Amino acid sequence: MPLDINSVREQFPMLQTTVYGKPLIYLDSAATTFKTTSVIDTVKKQYSSECSNIHRGIHYFSELGTTHYEQARVKVQNFINAKKAQEIIFTRGTTESINLLATSLSESFLNSGDEIIISLMEHHSNIVPWQMVAEKKNLKLKFINVTEDGVLDLEHFKTLLTDKTKIVSVTHISNVLGTINPIKDIIKLTHQAGAKCIIDAAQSVAHHHVDVQDLDADFLVFSGHKMYAPTGIGVLYGKEELLEELPPYQGGGSMIDLVTVEKTTYNNLPFKFEAGTPNIAGTLGLATAIDFIKDIGMDNIQQHEDMLFAYTLKKAEAIEDYNFYGPKENRSATFCFNHPEAHSSDIGMILDKRGFAIRTGHHCTQPLWQHFKLNGAARASFAIYNTTQEVDKLFTALEDIKDFF
Ligand code: ALA
Repeated sequence: MPLDINSVREQFPMLQTTVYGKPLIYLDSAATTFKTTSVIDTVKKQYSSECSNIHRGIHYFSELGTTHYEQARVKVQNFINAKKAQEIIFTRGTTESINLLATSLSESFLNSGDEIIISLMEHHSNIVPWQMVAEKKNLKLKFINVTEDGVLDLEHFKTLLTDKTKIVSVTHISNVLGTINPIKDIIKLTHQAGAKCIIDAAQSVAHHHVDVQDLDADFLVFSGHKMYAPTGIGVLYGKEELLEELPPYQGGGSMIDLVTVEKTTYNNLPFKFEAGTPNIAGTLGLATAIDFIKDIGMDNIQQHEDMLFAYTLKKAEAIEDYNFYGPKENRSATFCFNHPEAHSSDIGMILDKRGFAIRTGHHCTQPLWQHFKLNGAARASFAIYNTTQEVDKLFTALEDIKDFF
């Protein structure tokens, strides 16, 4: 069935808001997506009529909350096609998932002189945690090059792999260039070199099918808030046998088996990695967001967003003066641009007054901009609720504001 974009838009209360008296045109979904009424209602219901802690009570609402929380885990398992529910660890988001992996892997799996490969198009959350553990454990961090077209240089990647490579950690989709990386090939090459591969799927799970078994990913991480779910909830997927070997990241309640004054033994997966009271409402909201995505259908989402990008590219090729970044094919609908005479924040501020929400600056990818010898860019990023009319309005505004510079 063709997508009824109006009925999709009606499900997002934020799309009914105005800014400076103008209808809001939200082009910042790579930063965070808006939430559906169903997600908001799920969170409200948990706090207003089902509030309790989980995994630790025998009373009605504690057991109900535990059941819903574990059902959410199964929903995430099915969403990314993990083999087992205990391979799904709930975290605060992509950043915490990568910090967990960097810390636990460095304690159990990495030794002085070992090498970690990431890429120049990584978000800071897939750079800084590795730099921190590399410094502590004397590890070597290597960066895969990005071509002028904004594509990962796979030939360069192959030259970086050595018998010292232990971890490769790369993004599925760049939050700046929109590039969709060939992660299946990257995982295969990583395994051939005897290393483990981590995929940052923060920018992909809401836009593309992700199947961890088909990919043969060792670990894969993402955030709820970029897929219509609340902030503060995220996922770490790991193959069971690898998670079993990793030490816990944080200590506290829930992650224990037995605590004595002498020592502690740890709980089974997934609880070993979920210390303390989790984000219960956020987890249930994530499950509702998955229902929303499934109702629309990932194929429909991808088709709509590919159409939006193709439409945007045509407009970009027709407008003068602006520079646009990233490949023309095999990419997502996240679109960075600059005017040679303007700072991206000036473009952002002018657009803001006209009702547009875009992101400006370095987008937490400073090494990428250093590589391109630029300070950053303005970015329009799309989601399922955006329309070609909004793209038209953006380019009309960009045409108007050229005269300011
Ligand atoms: N990583 C998010 C972005 O690209 C915050 O905007």
